[in-house]
Amino acid sequence: METLTLAKRGAVDLRLEWIDTAVPPTEIGSLDPGERARAARFRFERDRRRFVARRLFLRRALAEHLGVDPAGIRYRTSTHGKPELDLVDAPVAFSTSHTGDLAIVAVVAGGEVGVDIERIRPMRDALDIARKFFTADEVEHLQWLSGAGRSTAFLRLWTRKEAYVKLLGRGLSIPLDDFDVLGVGGVDGIELGCTAERPAASLWSVDVPDDYLATVALGTAARTVEPALQLAIAS
Ligand SMILES: CC(C)(COP(=O)(O)OP(=O)(O)OC[C@H]1O[C@@H](n2cnc3c(N)ncnc32)[C@H](O)[C@@H]1OP(=O)(O)O)[C@@H](O)C(=O)NCCC(=O)NCCS
Repeated sequence: METLTLAKRGAVDLRLEWIDTAVPPTEIGSLDPGERARAARFRFERDRRRFVARRLFLRRALAEHLGVDPAGIRYRTSTHGKPELDLVDAPVAFSTSHTGDLAIVAVVAGGEVGVDIERIRPMRDALDIARKFFTADEVEHLQWLSGAGRSTAFLRLWTRKEAYVKLLGRGLSIPLDDFDVLGVGGVDGIELGCTAERPAASLWSVDVPDDYLATVALGTAARTVEPALQLAIAS
């Protein structure tokens, strides 16, 4: 199992792992009853194994931060379904995402975090989806592009929106066309200002293998060491 620690500079610990589905049976004992029940509901063995492997990956990352055994991690779920640590004053927050055999985990020691990863693939319905969910400027940006360029641009915007939505943890209660994630001139570190409905955050591209795109969204409390973060995360 290969874990690449992408960044660990106080602000955000980003880990990427190729999911190895040959999970040793001893490790499966680290999962809690809820995870085991979910694992049992997968129809295909391959998906079940992937789920188990990425949940173990998350547990290992969190256990390192909390100084506990991976099996000792307890989760709870917010009213909108965001998983969080079942601790009073949890010292870290986390977010996780996967696409195929690649999983990413982000852990921050302050504030909130959201992460999303996507495999770059042809998105023939990119414009249709964008017209439904994206801002007018985002749609216009995509209209200028075609083919692979449009698919990649769409998926980049998608990971940015999804990362922010996952930071918020409120599912679709915030319309996706309520915030623009185009950025200025392609510059990274996109700032989303706070409104009455949602907090401020910044969006950063993560350096992932070719053919993948990932974005991490950081809340303001997680940005106190921004210069270090800029070094650690590819722009
Ligand atoms: C629930 C949702 C966040 C999952 O995203 P996904 O792309 O299907 O899957 P990912 O692998 O990226 O993320 C899954 C992880 O998100 C986390 N998650 C689930 N619900 C969440 C919520 N409400 N808030 C934050 N994180 C959540 C979990 O850790 C989950 O891991 P698990 O499957 O091991 O439990 C997503 O489907 C969602 O709500 N999207 C709404 C917004 C949307 O449609 N965006 C489209 C972008 S344009």
